Amino acid sequence: MDFKTLVNSRHSVRKFTPKEIEADKLELIFESAQKAPSAVNFQPYKVYAIKSNDKLEAIKSCYHREWIKTAPIILLITGNHSMAWKRGGDNKDFTDVDAAIFADHITLQAAELGIGTCWVCNFDVNAVSELLELSAEEEPICLLPMGYPANTEIPPKKRKSIDEIVVWI
Ligand SMILES: Cc1cc2nc3c(=O)[nH]c(=O)nc-3n(C[C@H](O)[C@H](O)[C@H](O)COP(=O)(O)O)c2cc1C
Repeated sequence: MDFKTLVNSRHSVRKFTPKEIEADKLELIFESAQKAPSAVNFQPYKVYAIKSNDKLEAIKSCYHREWIKTAPIILLITGNHSMAWKRGGDNKDFTDVDAAIFADHITLQAAELGIGTCWVCNFDVNAVSELLELSAEEEPICLLPMGYPANTEIPPKKRKSIDEIVVWI
């Protein structure tokens, strides 16, 4: 699949079949995530692959939308603020930026394999931290429910025009 086809095919999937994702595909997804760039190459992130029944049910209860219940696996991306690069001058913390690129590599590699994902940030962060006993420095950034899409149609992309997002100077 060329890159243009890939970015056009990746979309938020909110209904999955119960089919488990094969181990070799999960491995490939994590290998692609591993190659993500990060500020000063500090790699201040982790991905928790949550598939055991009790933890999966518990993590699903941290996001109150019915559709998440169809996901056979949920990835949690965390960012560790104590490991991230802080820019001199304004001390900006790049945890979110690094974690977002890491997560994006996951969603794109998954899409290339025909596996659906959806970014979820509107979840109960404190409940997730408690459930996985995360340290104060490790912030849950996003959930990525993942699985084979129940509906294989690719919806049209609703996006701003190129003129609205590109500034030529
Ligand atoms: C940072 C971020 C947070 C998001 N949070 C949620 C969420 O909590 N729930 C949800 O259903 N979709 C969430 N989305 C998915 C967006 O709604 C979706 O990416 C956007 O509408 C574009 O659609 P597409 O992914 O199908 O191209 C999130 C996306 C991003 C990038």
